[in-house]
Amino acid sequence: MSSFLSPSSDFFGLDIGTTAIRLVQLRGTGDAKALVKYAYVPLESTIALSESKGDQAKLAETVKQLVGQAGVNTKNVAVGIPSSRVFTTVADVERLPENELAQSIRYQADSLIPTPLAESKVDWAVIGDSPSDKLKQEIILSSVANKFVESRLDMLESIGLNVVAFEPDNLAMARALAVPDTTPQLLLDVGRRTTDLVVVLNGVPHLTRSIPTGVEAIVRATTQNLNIDEKQAEQFVFKFGMSKEKLEGQVLQAISGTVDMLTTEIEKSIKFFQTRYVGAKIERIIVTGGASVIPEFPLYLANKFGLNVEIGNAWRGVSYAQDRQNELLGISNQFGVAVGLAERIQ
Ligand SMILES: Nc1ncnc2c1ncn2[C@@H]1O[C@H](COP(=O)(O)OP(=O)(O)OP(=O)(O)O)[C@@H](O)[C@H]1O
Ligand SMILES: [Mg+2]
Repeated sequence: MSSFLSPSSDFFGLDIGTTAIRLVQLRGTGDAKALVKYAYVPLESTIALSESKGDQAKLAETVKQLVGQAGVNTKNVAVGIPSSRVFTTVADVERLPENELAQSIRYQADSLIPTPLAESKVDWAVIGDSPSDKLKQEIILSSVANKFVESRLDMLESIGLNVVAFEPDNLAMARALAVPDTTPQLLLDVGRRTTDLVVVLNGVPHLTRSIPTGVEAIVRATTQNLNIDEKQAEQFVFKFGMSKEKLEGQVLQAISGTVDMLTTEIEKSIKFFQTRYVGAKIERIIVTGGASVIPEFPLYLANKFGLNVEIGNAWRGVSYAQDRQNELLGISNQFGVAVGLAERIQ
């Protein structure tokens, strides 16, 4: 049913996470996109992280089943790239006409990214005026290994899908979750293995980082410090969380060292941002991902940073039938990336 009147219905967003695959299809343009389809299926993390042929085939089969069951009516897909695979930087560049700018950035890219240019896929966007040089503007530039993009492409094409876009997970997540106002906000997606951090200023990402601490490390700390098995540790973490009272604060004690490794990195990013953008004070933190439902985790962050911390709503820019509300809000913390991909303007 795709037509030029509703261009954004002609693809769906696909998040291949560590613990689940999620898809979202929306219809309509502008601010009022309507939910058409959403679906998810758990994934064994060994498969998500493996590059072996056998596991790639299993992954392809799982995506295929999910797309089939969801009844998505397009083959076009916008797919996320795990932020841990992406290098992102912000750089000042000359103010040049668009075509000259592209060429100029191509020349400079080699010195901006850590990998050889010939082996990398580079993408960039102008994000505003340089905060330090009036004559320049700033760009956000990402690079990812060709090898990774090509293997994802092969996997998705092998099941008949047509990739219309690749986008780093963190940028997609920020599109779905950022509150549409001009105050600087910090978004955190605390996933299974990594935490994606994005600072949005004037509605546009200005700083992104992938921090290698997530739910897995938090559960591992509980396993080790309380001497219990992984399953029980996970139950403890998501039941008692960071409360001082629950279980006499034992879980809090077990995990606070690991959580503080994360908060230390977050703090560094806040300082870095506020040094570069003098006067732009971060006013709120929006948290999503698995860890956002750990009891009192958002409160812990709020106390640590002295900032408002909100739990993100992945569906904030999406309209849907009222009777879906409870179900959608219940899975909101794992849908930020998929919704953000579906909200792309192609
Ligand atoms: N209510 C809950 N009870 C128990 N565990 C939960 C709950 N909600 C989330 N989790 C845990 O959170 C983790 C998944 O988080 P999330 O969905 O953000 O990860 P992911 O997107 O698959 O991973 P990544 O983004 O790192 O690739 C899993 O370990 C899952 O067990
Ligand atoms: Mg995720």
